[in-house]
Amino acid sequence: MIQASTIIDAWARAAQFLSRIQRSIPKGAGLDITGFGLDDFNRWGLVALVLVNCKEYCSKWLVLATNQFIPNHCHPKKKETISCEEGVLEIILYGTDDGSGEFDQRQLTADVEVNNRAISVDCSLPDGSTMLLPAGTSITLPPGVWHEFGAIGGNALAVEVSTSNNDKDDNTFQNKEIGRFATTIEQDVPGVVVTIDDEGFVYFPTAANAA
Ligand SMILES: [Fe+2]
Repeated sequence: MIQASTIIDAWARAAQFLSRIQRSIPKGAGLDITGFGLDDFNRWGLVALVLVNCKEYCSKWLVLATNQFIPNHCHPKKKETISCEEGVLEIILYGTDDGSGEFDQRQLTADVEVNNRAISVDCSLPDGSTMLLPAGTSITLPPGVWHEFGAIGGNALAVEVSTSNNDKDDNTFQNKEIGRFATTIEQDVPGVVVTIDDEGFVYFPTAANAA
């Protein structure tokens, strides 16, 4: 469950931030706004703009408010590069999944690339390995690396480039209560209906959806 007002407010704040850093809203991008079913959007939430997602590749913008994080997850198939364009990202790596999708059975190392240089990271528990990615830096995660990330010290814009994105089958969350998309939207804004399609894109009257 997520409130329509939460989605609308989140987009308004994201659009304002993008305007402030002089980024034009990409025309035709899909709006993916989710609270991961956790009912605490300011802590666990995301505004994403999906520029393209085809069978070969995917590109998204991820807009994160201060202290807003994407909860710990891994992708069994997807390889992704996350580049910080604005602000500072904090990313926590928790090792590599052994293929079971069960967080307790992970291997506590992760082979990643930071700024295109390969490194092996010790992700010992309980804290995992925390890295800061200021603007101009990037991390590349092969399939299976458990990761949680968000913005600290201000809003952030990340660009994600990856192999094809399949949110239904290729997102494994540590917290099994999490859903990648909202399943129900509480229509709490009089006169406005917010809808969500099978791909998780949200629609409501906004210039972004009219593009
Ligand atoms: Fe991810």
